[in-house]
Amino acid sequence: MLELICPLCQAALTAQGSRWCCSHGHSYDQARQGYLNLLLVQHKNSRQPGDTPAMLACRQAFLDAGHYQPVSDEINRLLSAGAPARLLDMGCGEGYYTARLANALSGCSLGGLDISKDAIHKAARRSRDIQWLVGSSARLPVADASLDAALCVFSPWSWEECLRSLKPGGQLLLVGPHADHLLSLRAALYDSIHPTPELIKALPSGLHIVSDSTLRYALDLESTDLGNLIGMTPHGFRSRPERQQALLEQGLSGLEVAMRMVLLQRSEEE
Ligand SMILES: C[S@@+](CC[C@H](N)C(=O)[O-])C[C@H]1O[C@@H](n2cnc3c(N)ncnc32)[C@H](O)[C@@H]1O
Repeated sequence: MLELICPLCQAALTAQGSRWCCSHGHSYDQARQGYLNLLLVQHKNSRQPGDTPAMLACRQAFLDAGHYQPVSDEINRLLSAGAPARLLDMGCGEGYYTARLANALSGCSLGGLDISKDAIHKAARRSRDIQWLVGSSARLPVADASLDAALCVFSPWSWEECLRSLKPGGQLLLVGPHADHLLSLRAALYDSIHPTPELIKALPSGLHIVSDSTLRYALDLESTDLGNLIGMTPHGFRSRPERQQALLEQGLSGLEVAMRMVLLQRSEEE
């Protein structure tokens, strides 16, 4: 199990049946579906933060079709090398990568956290063995120096929170788009392509890079899969519907997948 902390007072949380309590009398009920909501209303930036149900449905359909399975396999390979005992997937969405990671890492206590309750609701259907948490990466509900590893795939993270919650020597795997990622899709949807922001702008002290690689392969996508890919990303609401429609009618072959994967490690001594 992960070492959970109270989002109000940061004291340790312990389970009493399906209720999680801290020593200051704050308590949180586990949902019937098995997840725990540790996102306080005062820490929400909107009524329904995170990805929308429509985006989540598209992402689940696209991922379950296996198009990003090589990405998931590479994540599993990179993280299993460290044999982590406790790992948190931050911004886990509907839990595709988390659930595949659980199958690859036997004996690891795994948590999946997302700010979207709808996402965690869906994720909880994937496995009862994972601790699914509604919460924010800006305030991780886990104890100081309690994680052996953390994962973040296409989601925001906080350096401070990663440094606080990782054990010395603990690993953080960041996965995000390389500048070439989905280049021909972006070229078809927009008049000019916006540059992809750097995955890491500045590395804080206390973390160093273990490896930095880019996984590349090509996809041939027809209408349904292409629609799901557009719908699961901001391209769904940023690009013009007629451009999307034209693309769906044509299909796209040789679409570039280029995923940057940076594995970091927390220094042993501070
Ligand atoms: C692009 S999706 C990626 C989901 C998943 N990692 C994947 O790749 O399939 C980004 C996710 O980050 C979540 N998110 C956004 N802000 C967050 C925050 N502050 N804390 C935790 N999750 C957040 C969204 O709800 C969404 O599920």
